[in-house]
Amino acid sequence: MDFIKVNKEYISSFFSDDELRKVQAEVFNADNSLTYGTGKGSDFHGWMDLPARISESEINDIKYCAENLRSISSAVVVIGIGGSYLGARAVIEALSPSFKNKFEKGNPDILYAGHNLSEEYLHELLSLLSGIDYSIIVISKSGTTIEPAVAFRLLKNHIETKYGKDEARKRIVAVTDKSKGALKKLADEEGYKTFVIPDNVGGRFSVLTPVGLLPVACAGIDISGLLQGAKDILNHINKEKDFFNNPACLYAGLRNILYRSWKEIEIMVSYEPKLGYLIEWWKQLYGESEGKQRKGLFPVGVNFTTDLHSLGQIIQDGKKNFFETVLWVDRTNAEIKIPEAQNDPDGLNYLSDKRISYINEKAMLGTVQAHTQGSVPNILIKIPELNAYYIGQLIYFFERACGISGYMLGVNPFDQPGVEAYKKEMKKLL
Ligand code: PA5
Repeated sequence: MDFIKVNKEYISSFFSDDELRKVQAEVFNADNSLTYGTGKGSDFHGWMDLPARISESEINDIKYCAENLRSISSAVVVIGIGGSYLGARAVIEALSPSFKNKFEKGNPDILYAGHNLSEEYLHELLSLLSGIDYSIIVISKSGTTIEPAVAFRLLKNHIETKYGKDEARKRIVAVTDKSKGALKKLADEEGYKTFVIPDNVGGRFSVLTPVGLLPVACAGIDISGLLQGAKDILNHINKEKDFFNNPACLYAGLRNILYRSWKEIEIMVSYEPKLGYLIEWWKQLYGESEGKQRKGLFPVGVNFTTDLHSLGQIIQDGKKNFFETVLWVDRTNAEIKIPEAQNDPDGLNYLSDKRISYINEKAMLGTVQAHTQGSVPNILIKIPELNAYYIGQLIYFFERACGISGYMLGVNPFDQPGVEAYKKEMKKLL
C-alpha cells in the first residue's frame, strides 16, 4: 500500500535531523492529546476516527440520494460557505475533468452558491437555472449563516416557482445539525430529505461527513474510495511510531520548527491546477485552526508553474519570512509527448518524445532548488496519484497534522471565535 509521503530533503540545510528529533516528543505528545481526547476542544474530535466509523448503511444512503439527484438534474447547486463548502469543492475540482463537454451527457454540473454575497453572481446563477433541470443541496451546520441562508431563500423561491412546491421538495436536500438551527426547522416543516452533521465534527473538519460526501457523490466520484484512502492513512498514522516515517507527525514537526525560526507564512504550492481548491480548503483548515492568541502561520497558496511568472520574483528574492510546502503528484492519469518538429523552428526538439509530466517535474525540482538556494525552505509532499483514494489520504493527513500543529502552538484548533467579529458588525449595520 502506498501512502502520501513527506520529504524533508530540501530543508536539511535549514536545520538538522537532531533539531527535528528534539521536537519529536512534543509532536507525539500533541498527537496523544488528540488520540486520547485530553487536549483543548476535545468535544470536536469526532473527525479523528470518522473514516473508520462511518457505516455502510450511511454510505449507501448518501449514494442513493446522490443517484436520485443525478437522475433528475443537469446541475446540482451546492449552497454553503467555509467548512460547509470548501471540502466538497476541493475534492470535486481535484477529481473532475478540467473541461466539460456540454454536449456530452453524464455527470451533472456542480454549481455553488451561498459562498459570497455577490448580486451579480446570484443573478447569473438564477438566469442559468431558469433554463435547466436542477436540484439543491443546502449545507449549514448552524443553519443561521447569512450567506447560505440568503442564497437558499432565493433558490427556494426559484425552484418552487419552476417546479411547484411538491416537485421542488423532492429536489432539495438539507445537510445540517440533528436538532437545532433555522435550516433544521425549515427542513422538517417542508419535509426535505436531510443528512446530519455530527455534533462533534466542526465545519472545516467535516468533508468526510455528508457535508462533503453528498456533493462529491453527486459529481460521480467514488466516495467509498475516498473514505478507504482516509481510513488507510488513519491506521498508518496511528501505527507508525517512527517519527520520520509518520507523514502527519513529520509535517507538523517541520512546520513547527520553521514557525519557531520566525517564519510567518506557509505557501502551499501545487503543480497541478486541479489541486487549486484543495489549497483553498487547506487554507481554511490551517488558518482557522491555528490563527489564535496572536499565533499561527498565515496560509497562502500558489499554482506553479503559472504563478512562477507572477510571484516567482518575490519568492526568490523578497523578504524571507515564509517557507513553501510543495504538493507533487507522482503519476499522472494521461500521457502526452512533445512531437518532433521539422527544422526545429522553436528550438524544442531536444525535448522531443518527452512527456509533459517529465517537463513539469523538472520545473518542480528546478524551482525547489532555486528557492532553497534563495533561502526559502521547501517541504515536499508526494501524492502517488490523483484519484479518490489518494485524495482521501491527503484530506485525513492534513486534518491530523493540523490538530497536532494546533496543540503544539498551545491553541484550541477546533474553535473559531474570531470569525464571529465580522458577523456582529455586519448585523449591526444591517
Ligand atoms: O469552519 C467553520 O466552522 C466555518 O467555516 C463554518 O463552516 C462556516 O462559517 C459555515 O458555517 P455553517 O455550516 O454553520 O453555515
